[in-house]
Amino acid sequence: MTASERALESYHPFDPAVQEDPWEYYALLRREAPVYRDPQTGIFMVSSHALVVEALRRWEDFSNRFGVALGGSGDGGSEEGRNPFEGTASAGEAEAELARGELRRPLMPVDTMLTADPPEQKRYRSLVDKAFRPKRVRALEPRMRALCHSLIDAFVADGRVELRAAFARPVPLTIIAEQLGVGAADLDDFHRWSDGFVAQLGGMASPEERRRAQELIFEFQRYFAKIVLARRSEPRDDIISDMVNARVEGERPLDLPECLSILQQLLVAGNETTASTICEGMRLFAEHPSEWKRVREDPALVRNAVEEILRLATPTANMWRVCRRDTQLGGVDIPAGSMVLVRYGAANRDEDVFPDPDRFDIDRPNASEHVAFGQGIHFCLGAQLARCELVKSIEVLAERLATVRIAAGAPPLRHPPNILLRGLEALHLEFEAA
Ligand code: HEM
Repeated sequence: MTASERALESYHPFDPAVQEDPWEYYALLRREAPVYRDPQTGIFMVSSHALVVEALRRWEDFSNRFGVALGGSGDGGSEEGRNPFEGTASAGEAEAELARGELRRPLMPVDTMLTADPPEQKRYRSLVDKAFRPKRVRALEPRMRALCHSLIDAFVADGRVELRAAFARPVPLTIIAEQLGVGAADLDDFHRWSDGFVAQLGGMASPEERRRAQELIFEFQRYFAKIVLARRSEPRDDIISDMVNARVEGERPLDLPECLSILQQLLVAGNETTASTICEGMRLFAEHPSEWKRVREDPALVRNAVEEILRLATPTANMWRVCRRDTQLGGVDIPAGSMVLVRYGAANRDEDVFPDPDRFDIDRPNASEHVAFGQGIHFCLGAQLARCELVKSIEVLAERLATVRIAAGAPPLRHPPNILLRGLEALHLEFEAA
């Protein structure tokens, strides 16, 4: 065994310590084996920018039907190989139950966008893309600004804040909740569902946590089934109405299980990722006060700073693919059926694309070449919405907080272990108000 093989084998990709501080491991992977079969798990890992982009584009070889991880049907049901939802209702039965007042049995989640391949994935995207069109996102800007101000009002007199709970989480959660018709009184439930999905998605949940996540999914389905029904007959000016009533020429509208699966993905994909980016961004500014001063003086710098934050934070650190047929990537043979981990976090620090990759450089000319939103057919549906929320959040924080620093005596910064999503558990800041 060579020294570099020994070095690679000394890391376990699921080890919480490696997940907390993966940068040396990522650099080693890129340098020694940008397509690497981890001998302990059999998983193939792709880590250079060029090969990550290539894998994402070759969707005929690398499939997104890894639905199990999101609670979808995937190719083989749960990790024990059976349906995790016993006694589930079909689409027709669910519609009938709902017409009588309430969904009585859970729906078997169907594989929609993130966990589907073309042609199904293309059909879902064409129906849902319309709901996320740029005009709708732009129309939300004033509400985003007002929300940011009101959240800051609640803590600005204190001189210190735990930013994740007080600001970073409520911004995306409130915006998407409002767009999905969730009333303010139900926001706490919305938080709980989101947490449950993320725990399940992390690939590190205990059987008990997974069972709890399934209960939360059923709660979520009961709640949203009623909203879907209501918006079909009485549409409003919001994303959920656009989605449930969307029609593309020759297509039938989305049925109830499809709508609920998509709603679940929006909740999972959109909230934690955006909250994590806000936190990582403010941590970077707390550590680089001169850059905070610059964005305060010139808000036009915020847009590129957000791209640089996305690059360094990469909150969707990894994503699964399943190899469909025997193939090669980067000269490495990958047999059909192999699990492939596409390492966005590693690609975004590839020195061949981003010189001095660990440096926070808000003027970096090619910051937006990051793959934090993926690439190709699965490119993030919510990228426009997320970018808008991130820009508004940083702009308003810069208006209101003259200086920011990591709070004295704060617990060490920590990212809870999660193989797919990476984000600070908490960010304690001290600041001087503007
Ligand atoms: C900073 C915030 C966000 C990041 C970093 C992010 C990241 C990503 C990434 C990397 C993918 C590609 C997954 C793959 O390659 O298989 C993706 C897909 C997706 N994202 Fe996001 N996302 C963010 C925000 C959002 C928001 C706000 C929403 C919606 C409310 C959203 C909804 C989706 C959906 C539905 C997909 C699947 C699209 C498809 O497979 O066709 N995301 N996201």
